Amino acid sequence: MSLERLLASIPEGSDDAALARQIQPDRLPQHVAIIMDGNGRWAEQRHLPRVEGHRAGIQSVREVVETSARLGLEVLTLYAFSIENWKRPAAEVSVLMTLLRRYLRSELDTLIEHGIRFRVIGRADGLPTEVLEELREAEARTAVHRGLQFNIALNYGGRAEIVDAVKAVLAARVDPATLDEDRFSQWLYTAGQPDPDLLIRTSGEMRISNFLLWQIAYAEIYVTGTLWPDFRRRHLLDAILAYQKRDRRYGGIAPVVAQSTP
Ligand code: FPP
Repeated sequence: MSLERLLASIPEGSDDAALARQIQPDRLPQHVAIIMDGNGRWAEQRHLPRVEGHRAGIQSVREVVETSARLGLEVLTLYAFSIENWKRPAAEVSVLMTLLRRYLRSELDTLIEHGIRFRVIGRADGLPTEVLEELREAEARTAVHRGLQFNIALNYGGRAEIVDAVKAVLAARVDPATLDEDRFSQWLYTAGQPDPDLLIRTSGEMRISNFLLWQIAYAEIYVTGTLWPDFRRRHLLDAILAYQKRDRRYGGIAPVVAQSTP
């Protein structure tokens, strides 16, 4: 069903259509999380200022969000700005915030059209007021939607998230005897959402970069050399196809393949 919706948006006979047809709709990852990396290198390769890489990366965001919604994924989380990213030059930080606001303004209608529910995860403290207001408005206007849950991780840090969750648990005077892994996860920013099944990182770096540390415990990791501004629908489909070939064991053993007796 969801594959048909995706195929309807892809030119018949194209390479992307051929890739999409290989996807097994009953084995989709529920939650895909992406570390969007390589914007600076993309710009440097073209002798452009770094911020041009971020600007170009917006088209990749659009394509990945729309493809995920059409495919029927439950959750997509994009890592847009880490707590550590404040160390970047003020001008670069300011461009990133402006791009985010512009993206929301220009894409809100598309998010609504696709029934996407938008959410920001991360620390609200420290974000410019005008950015926060627009983010909250986009959250409010899409809150009733039941389609793709689209999270943007902004001013986000995985360790900070765990510390925030512990503080909330203590403030609520939760009885330690009642606390287990499932209950604790309900205090995280992603409460109520399935953990990522597939974590994609672009630009070839083999790092987690403090992203969703609790939630990626059993995620399949897929690293591609493609730089984020070059990442398109076919790259997401490639990652999902690779995921569907993985044998997920969650610490157990591989299922025994039944053999016929001679
Ligand atoms: C990493 O590239 C990318 C970022 C820090 C920001 C990603 C942000 C966007 C694509 C734009 C806004 C996002 C949304 C969701 C609308 P890098 O600069 O670290 O690249 P490098 O490793 O090549 O230097």
